[in-house]
Amino acid sequence: MSQSRKEFLKTGVAGLAGMGTFTATQVAAKESSAAKKISNGLSSDKINTVKPVVLSTWIHGIVANEEAWKVLENGGTSLDAVELGVKTAEADPTNQSVGLGGFPDREGRVTLDACIMNHEQQCGSVAFLEHIVHPISVARKVMEETPHVMLVGNGALQFAEQQGFKRQNLLTEASENAWRKWLEDSKYAPVINVENHDTIGMLALDDSGNISGACTTSGAAYKMHGRVGDSPIIGAGLYLDNEVGGAVATGLGEAVIRSAGASVAVELIRQGYTPQQACDEVIARIISKEKEPKSLQVGVIALNKQGVVGGSAIHPGFNYALLSKEQENGMIDAPHLFKEE
Ligand code: GLY
Repeated sequence: MSQSRKEFLKTGVAGLAGMGTFTATQVAAKESSAAKKISNGLSSDKINTVKPVVLSTWIHGIVANEEAWKVLENGGTSLDAVELGVKTAEADPTNQSVGLGGFPDREGRVTLDACIMNHEQQCGSVAFLEHIVHPISVARKVMEETPHVMLVGNGALQFAEQQGFKRQNLLTEASENAWRKWLEDSKYAPVINVENHDTIGMLALDDSGNISGACTTSGAAYKMHGRVGDSPIIGAGLYLDNEVGGAVATGLGEAVIRSAGASVAVELIRQGYTPQQACDEVIARIISKEKEPKSLQVGVIALNKQGVVGGSAIHPGFNYALLSKEQENGMIDAPHLFKEE
């Protein structure tokens, strides 16, 4: 472990201890000043001041970062890096929260959501897309080849096939078996931190100083057919402004959409918040607004133009992978802000 990461972990824990018992009610009362108080002492703001930088949600971010790094270390663009990075999770059949092998909806159909955004404020998105293993690449095609931002369902599939993407069965035996077992009770209850996986969201800052982001998921397991989460929604699951920074979210999409998670984080960075403070504030708001924050997880990560990063979550267990010119690829445990009253 590099010295800077060791220092971060040490100071980070001290910072969390300093938070004391911060209840959901207190979070609500503190409103916008909460994040600054919560994040006192956290030193993630001190790491990663040298570009290029890539960070991505959950443990699958390690492999994704490595792939993205091949682009970044050769002076490639952050856009290519984030697309190639998240494709690793999409292609992994053992990853049951993204792409191939994702848990299906309650009708047994794997439906995918993804979006991508570049430093020129261009973006593309697909939602409720079936049969295509790399929705992130279809999203990029939407951005680059159409006058639109978002295509959904059959229209997205039709477009993907026109672009040369091949149909394939995304439902693996393992995910089909899990779904058949789920059918026995048919109880919809999204689980917090499923196997340290969920949406993969990635942000990268390249050698030229440009930020891009990508976000891709199979969504909540056993969701209603037709349900779309936050991951393809620009401003919710992903947002960036190359003058300021970027953010991506993971966890229960409905909660992220209701709080416009990623765009709020970026706007807070614009106002002078550090990425850590911005993530804390988004999470604090979600805790204060949601009826049952105890039973849902959301994680947010963010990056600013200087390569400073941050991440925060409602509950323990959310982490993100970070890799930069100065930082070996490794997991950072995000602080968690929900405390029982
Ligand atoms: N964040 C992924 C989803 O809720 O679909």
